[in-house]
Amino acid sequence: MSAEFPASDSLPVAGTAYGLGIGPGEPDLITLKAYNILQKADVIAYPALEDGVSLARQIVDPHIPEGRIEIAIRIEMGKPADPIYDAAAIEIGKHLADGKTVAVLCEGDPFFYGSFMYLFGRLAEAGHPVKTVPGVSSMMACAAQLGAPLAAKNDVLQVIPGPLDADRLREQLAKTDAAAIIKLGRHFAKVRGVINELGLTDRARYIERATLETQKMVPLGDLPADAKAPYFSMILIHRRGDAWR
Ligand SMILES: C[S@@+](CC[C@H](N)C(=O)[O-])C[C@H]1O[C@@H](n2cnc3c(N)ncnc32)[C@H](O)[C@@H]1O
Repeated sequence: MSAEFPASDSLPVAGTAYGLGIGPGEPDLITLKAYNILQKADVIAYPALEDGVSLARQIVDPHIPEGRIEIAIRIEMGKPADPIYDAAAIEIGKHLADGKTVAVLCEGDPFFYGSFMYLFGRLAEAGHPVKTVPGVSSMMACAAQLGAPLAAKNDVLQVIPGPLDADRLREQLAKTDAAAIIKLGRHFAKVRGVINELGLTDRARYIERATLETQKMVPLGDLPADAKAPYFSMILIHRRGDAWR
């Protein structure tokens, strides 16, 4: 290693917040850097449902040392999220001002559609040191689990959110070589309808809860017409069927 190579900053610095990418589900898919910071952080914060259940907290459960201060940031469905992030940033900011280190758990990668960015903006604007540790994103994990390379050569790869309306979905899908369609949940039937219309069903693969024990994956066309999809699911499509063709 060259002498100029920057020294590792895997040891957390007092008064700093870290957005830790913790991977898509399997506890082993955390980076060494995120693991090391998690071991030393004084405070661990994570997004949670109203009842306190948190996928991010569950993913790293085997790695959390005892006796840490924990902050569950409870996102209430149907309520504006801004006041929740405002309050969480104030609570985290108080710990930072006391010289504590705070790890904010982020499923997958923090800056890939991750809610951590809302805290990142607030904490940085309030003048707190805040760093982001990248993680294994669900898109990478889904491709690996499905044995479906995402893109090759000059392919254009798009990430398409399922909540887009059918016209926008059709427009985006019609012009791309490869796509990852995320946030399926209650939008699944609409997304399937558009894929069918475009004649892409035989090139679409479905996966839910990738790398978790409850993972399920099938060719999209093998699912029953009335199949439901959870929020943690994705469809990968490649126009050539396989990126290597
Ligand atoms: C708000 S985005 C967050 C993405 C996350 N930051 C990442 O890097 O993977 C949530 C979407 O990511 C996808 N996702 C996240 N984890 C997943 C998993 N384990 N299996 C399948 N899809 C997943 C789903 O499409 C879900 O609706």
